[in-house]
Amino acid sequence: MTHYDFDSVIDRHGTSAVKIDGLDRVFGRHDLTPLWIADLDFAVCPEITAALQHRLSHPVLGYSEAQDSYWQSIIDWNSRRHGFDIAREELCFIPGVVKGIALAVNYFTQKGDAVVIQPPVYTPFRTVVEGNGRRVVENPLIFDGEHNRMDLEGLEELISLEKPRLMVLCNPHNPIGIQWNAETLAELARICRKHGVIVVSDEIHGDLMLGGRAHIPFLSASDDARAIGIMLGAPSKTFNIPGLVSSWCVIKNPELRRDYFKWLEVNEFSAPVMISTIGAEAAYNNGEPWLDRMLEYVQENIDFVCNYVSEHIPGLKVIRPEASFLLWLDFKGLGLCHREIMDMLLNKAHLALNDGIMFGSQGEGCARLNIGTPRCVLENAMENLRCAVECVCREKHNCNCNKG
Ligand SMILES: Cc1ncc(COP(=O)(O)O)c(C=O)c1O
Repeated sequence: MTHYDFDSVIDRHGTSAVKIDGLDRVFGRHDLTPLWIADLDFAVCPEITAALQHRLSHPVLGYSEAQDSYWQSIIDWNSRRHGFDIAREELCFIPGVVKGIALAVNYFTQKGDAVVIQPPVYTPFRTVVEGNGRRVVENPLIFDGEHNRMDLEGLEELISLEKPRLMVLCNPHNPIGIQWNAETLAELARICRKHGVIVVSDEIHGDLMLGGRAHIPFLSASDDARAIGIMLGAPSKTFNIPGLVSSWCVIKNPELRRDYFKWLEVNEFSAPVMISTIGAEAAYNNGEPWLDRMLEYVQENIDFVCNYVSEHIPGLKVIRPEASFLLWLDFKGLGLCHREIMDMLLNKAHLALNDGIMFGSQGEGCARLNIGTPRCVLENAMENLRCAVECVCREKHNCNCNKG
């Protein structure tokens, strides 16, 4: 069995990595442990690098077209991994998942139209909609102190009131890490179909299921879902190749896809880039053993953080994800205001985490931690966090200042 090394720290400085080289720009300092933007610090599986190197050893890099084997690798992957069947004509390339959302928003809605999102959720769901002159209408998740769930009653009321044309679903959900169950997805689809709402389902984290759980593609939930659904997927998170920008879109309903796929094609939005098809095909065909081991490592990292926090940082709540490598940390139990929490993370713990408010106002008092990094990095980070929490809580207690 091949041994994959997830423990070694790889120096990513000077590789134009947003996560490292973007620290100063985003956080205003560079002496931080980068545990924010959602890519992994692990080396990609050797088969991907080999396929890319092989192609790049040819001296001509002219126009290229995707081969049948590329499309087949996506179809086989979904069938093998998720029991989800895709026909070739239902599938098209998109130049990134966020761009896939943007393309659908631009094609299917008009300026001023309402688009539903479910915060706290991945920031571009809001910025893409608002940046294109559409209106975000919120159907926030409901947190009962332990679990998050969808507010489906609220969704139907919101849709009746705001008459949105489109909803952007995150399945599994970033930043909370929930894989929505089939009943929830089917009910969401029923409501949306009844009211003529198209659902764009972002499933970029769908291959990263933890603990043997199954991913449930939205389009597999029901006939309603297949009538109104646009599924977006990618090997980018799965195999740590977001820099290659290789994503795809599936639409089952021929009426929904006919003109849309044509529009993507004439504008060449669906023309794959050579390097992305090569990376994706190698990943889907040969990357499974790497992925399975990587998911075990990620699960061990999650267990490490959860155990560390329950032992050493009382008052901090960690939401255990069902999928992916992002942990939602709820600091509200520490009795600090949001500004104090963010200041503590940055200036005391020296950690670059995503500010919870980026995901919506529901993220107040929270932050997102990317644990897709070698264990030793995480051990240091948790130690720094523990010291920072102790220090800030002690200072606060001593000076008895206001929460603000
Ligand atoms: C839910 C979700 N969608 C999309 C993306 C980004 O996808 P892409 O790089 O293909 O635009 C991310 C990255 O973190 C994400 O978490």
